[in-house]
Amino acid sequence: HKDLLDVSQLSREDVDVVMRTAASFREINARPVKKVPTLKGKSVVLFFAEPSTRTKTSFDIAGKRLSADTFGLAKSGSSLQKGETLKDTVLTLQAMNPDAIVMRHASSGAADFVARRVSCAVINAGDGWHAHPTQALLDLFTLREVWGDDLVGKTVTILGDVAHSRVARSNIRLLTMLGVTVRLCAPRTLLPKDARALGAKVFHELEPALENADAVMCLRLQLERQEAGLLPDLREYARRFCLTKARLKNAAPDVKVLHPGPINRGVEIASDLADAGNSLILDQVASGVAVRMAILYLHITRKEKGETA
Ligand code: CP
Repeated sequence: HKDLLDVSQLSREDVDVVMRTAASFREINARPVKKVPTLKGKSVVLFFAEPSTRTKTSFDIAGKRLSADTFGLAKSGSSLQKGETLKDTVLTLQAMNPDAIVMRHASSGAADFVARRVSCAVINAGDGWHAHPTQALLDLFTLREVWGDDLVGKTVTILGDVAHSRVARSNIRLLTMLGVTVRLCAPRTLLPKDARALGAKVFHELEPALENADAVMCLRLQLERQEAGLLPDLREYARRFCLTKARLKNAAPDVKVLHPGPINRGVEIASDLADAGNSLILDQVASGVAVRMAILYLHITRKEKGETA
């Protein structure tokens, strides 16, 4: 594929290639000199029209560790603020002949819109509520580090604001494809209408959703995406759904806790649990660098071999 728009375009074999490539790059991140010449002379534009800490920084670090030149373009400080359209913005970027555009945008489908208009690789770093494929791939990489390569039979509970979550959608697609039982747990207003059609089991109460779960993925309450009038009362939400050590008592004995970040401590996850030994939150961040190195490498070098989407 020229682009990475969502995990749904990937076969199991494609996923394995990403995992194996990320594993081979992971050790570079532990070296005293963390740089290899693999993508020397290549240019990567980091086009982030929405805020980001983890995704943007890890793509930047990933590109630099592979010796690519990376260039940041944010909404603030760009001509998007003067009213330039997305189409004209990307045609302008394309004219500078980058090898990849990594992009985040508030509109679902924005990465696809761009991918159809440029010849370089487009990597979706989050589009609206739709997809965040590299987050799902780094979550998978993190879980495989703990559980091994075969996740068949594992149960992962995704807890929180699923309705507005591109992370949840990509994770549901990827984990169900790999034989994981995915449970979704949230109040009705925070579940998508097509929750069951996604192949997940749906719960509105925490206790049954957590029973024997092997991992729980907490999601941020995405306050910026709530429809007017439907904003949950944060104290009431936390009282019913905040994940705590005590609430994990019926989960699997060595249950793991994940969160894509950023965290609302005390809202969707208790602060002490976020920092506990079974929390993989910072392992996810570390995995993000290796997985994004793999994605940049695979998409930029495949383009050179003339492959197209
Ligand atoms: N998980 C994630 O996408 O975090 P950022 O918004 O900080 O990139």
